[in-house]
Formats: sequence, structure tokens, C-alpha cells
Amino acid sequence: MKIVMIGTGYVGLVTGTCFANSGNDVTCLDIDEKKIEGLKNGKIPIYEPGLTEMVIRNHKAGRLHFTTSYEESVPDADCIFIAVGTPQSDDGSANLKGLWAVVDTIAPLLADDTITIIKSTVPVGTNRKMLDRLTELTGRDNIKVASNPEFLKEGAAIEDFTKPDRVVVGVNDDRAIKRLHELYKPFLRTEQPFLSMGLESAEMTKYVANCMLATKISFINEMANLCDLVNADINDVRRGIGHDQRIGFQFLFPGVGYGGSCFPKDVRALIHVAAENNMNAEILKSVDDVNDAQKEVLYSKIKKTMGDLKGKTIALWGLSFKPRTDDIREAPSLVLIEQLLKEGVNIRVHDPVAMENVREEIGDKVEYCEHHYDTLEGADALAIVTEWSEFRNPDFDYMKHKLKQMTIFDGRNLYDPKKMTEMGFAYYGIGLKG
Ligand code: UGA
Repeated sequence: MKIVMIGTGYVGLVTGTCFANSGNDVTCLDIDEKKIEGLKNGKIPIYEPGLTEMVIRNHKAGRLHFTTSYEESVPDADCIFIAVGTPQSDDGSANLKGLWAVVDTIAPLLADDTITIIKSTVPVGTNRKMLDRLTELTGRDNIKVASNPEFLKEGAAIEDFTKPDRVVVGVNDDRAIKRLHELYKPFLRTEQPFLSMGLESAEMTKYVANCMLATKISFINEMANLCDLVNADINDVRRGIGHDQRIGFQFLFPGVGYGGSCFPKDVRALIHVAAENNMNAEILKSVDDVNDAQKEVLYSKIKKTMGDLKGKTIALWGLSFKPRTDDIREAPSLVLIEQLLKEGVNIRVHDPVAMENVREEIGDKVEYCEHHYDTLEGADALAIVTEWSEFRNPDFDYMKHKLKQMTIFDGRNLYDPKKMTEMGFAYYGIGLKG
């Protein structure tokens, strides 16, 4: 099948490459010439395990092409996927300028039989608006559009794409279903359903999935904070509730709040959609508020325990919003850094891949260390913000000698509090009984 993927950001590049890898002829299109030149030479603009090799292999095999030209790619396409960014506007709504620019550009080039598919996360109603716009601009009444939301997680995107829990497509015309099913068939096993529905339901599915997951996180964070106050342990509580299959264990790890480019943006966008429809999305607003507050939880614990922080040194492990990515958008680490800097703290940080991105954002306000142990030199405490696997089993004896005070504030509950106490550490987790 001939596929054009418009937008070579995270979603577009992963999706386009995976479709090429399953034998399709894929052209990834972007208006950013530098990016396209880089991609042609195997330079991948994002960090995603396994992606670089896959891009290079499929490009060499002649199945994956990169271009800035709509004229060369769009007229031949069986499917055009739009995967451009939909950043958050000041009022919390999704900014669709990029999307409409693409729609206007492809309209005069669109072949009769092509399906135009929105991959980007867009407000409910956008696909239908696109259908109306393409109908108007082409003067044809046979336009086929589809909403095909993605459920990839950064850091595990290829695995998620190739083994999806489900594929969701919203269509305006049943003929589109067959082609999209064929495209996804290589990735679907019997237990992984291909779900077709209306355009609005598919758009809504994407938001509801992310908002449900964000709700689980804010809920467990609130419960962990309560555990802290009543001498209960959130890990025990998690076990106690998780065996109830209606509740389960997943996405109920307390921490320093969710970040990234998706949950914060999508929760706010759905609040906005609700408001536009004269509905007050009270649960979602609380999810958002609880999350903002949770990003300050580590700072509050540090302040409460250490008092005046002026001139103190704090080591900080992990900057990305989660492990296996260099993405620092809405990262809790940035909130903690800002608060500690205000207090006059010297901060020594380490992250396996995100340090360059942080340097670009805040410059040399903190000290960047090559190794996570280097951050501990002369530090009054260690704060852990991201649960990179290299932080899970450190050499505690070595750490004891490096740290000035044996104090650890762990925003991801990586260690056993009892063992930490036995080793002589003052150990503060999120909702853990010491
Ligand atoms: C999320 C969804 O999981 C994907 O299904 C979706 O496709 C994607 O958004 C998107 O809309 O594009 P992602 O943002 O990559 O994926 O990251 P997640 O792994 O979902 O983690 C999000 C945040 O939640 C992280 O900050 C993580 O630390 C936090 N989290 C996650 C917790 O605090 N506790 C948990 O139990 C799980």
C-alpha cells in the first residue's frame, strides 16, 4: 500500500517506519527541510529505543522515503495520515493551525480513492470538519476520512505499535474500514481487536483513554499523600486493591505527578471540550489540579525535613518526565529545580539522556554530572525524580561515603524503606511507611 505520513514528529516517524517495516511503501513528509535532510542521512530527531536502526534499514530497502514535497507524494497515496502537532493554546484548547494548513494543501492533490486519516490527537468534531472542508475544496462528495488515534507510549513506541492492545478507527464511509484493516492486519492477533466506530467516538476514545489513565495516577497520588498522614503504606494498599480484577495493578504507581506531552495537554483539552459544550468537567479539573500539586510534593518533603535550604547541595537523579525518553515536556524535575533554585540550593543533576534538553531550557543554573554517583559529591541529600533502571540497584555503601548527609527523597518509591532505615539512611518516599 502507498502511505504518506505528514508530520515526522514522534508519532508520525514511529508509525511511518513501522508501516514501512511491514512491507508498505511509505513517504514521510515534513515542511522542515533540515529534519528531512537529516532523516535521509539516518539522523533521527528523537530518542526512541530501536527506532534509528529501523529507519535506516527501511530507508535502505527503498520502502521508506523522506520528502518535503506534497506534489510528489500525495497524488499516488492510498492512505494519507496526518500526524502534525496539536500544541496546547493559552486557553487549554488544542491549536489546529498546522492541521488545517495540511488539509488545505492536500485538497487539490487528492486522488478519488485516497483515505485521509487523522493520527494527531484532535478535539471531538475535527474529523467531521475535515470531511466538510475537503468536500468543499475538492467539490467531490466521495471523500473518505478516518480518525485513527494512537496509543503509543514514549520509550516503548515500537513495541506498542507492533503489538497494540487494540486498533481504533472512526470512519465516515465503511469502504475505508477494509483498507485500514488490511494495513493493520500484520499487527493484529486474534485477541487484539480492530474496532471501527463513528468519527466522534474514535476521537473521544483517545481522550478518554488518556484521561482515565491520568485519573488513575492523580487518584493514587492523592491516596499516597493520605497514607503519609495516617501511617499506612501505599505499596501494601496497592497490593490490597490490585488483586481485585476490577481495579488491577497497572498505572497505580504513585510518584511526583504525570508529565509529558500527552496527559497534561489532553486532560486540559477535554476540560475545554466539555466547557464548550456547557459542561463543567469536575473530575478532570481535579485530576489536573492534583497533578500540579503533586509536582511539588518532593519539594515540600525536602523543605519540611531540611528546613532552611539556603546554600545546601542537593543531588537530583532523573530529569526526563519518565525513563527511556529524553522528553522533558511538563517534567516534574523542572518544577522541583525551580523551587530549589528559589531557595538558593546548589543542584547537581544527572540523567542518562535528557541533560542536553534541560541545558537548552535552563542553561547552567544547575551542575550537570556525567555519572549519577558524581552528583552525590558533598550533597546534603539525594532526590530521585525519574525511575531510570540504572537507579534501581545502586551501591548504597558507596553512596554513604559520597553523600554528606544520608538522606534520600525518593519520588518514585524505588527502594525498600525498611532496608534503607537498617542501612542508616533517612529515606522519604511517596506514601511509604518508614
Ligand atoms: C501516554 C499514554 O500512555 C499512551 O497510551 C498515549 O498514546 C500517549 O500518552 C499519547 O497520547 O501520545 P506517554 O505520555 O508516553 O504515553 O507516557 P506514559 O508511560 O503513559 O506516562 C505518562 C506519565 O505518567 C509519566 O510522567 C509517568 O511517570 C506517569 N505515571 C505513569 C505515573 O506517575 N504512575 C503510573 O503508575 C504510570
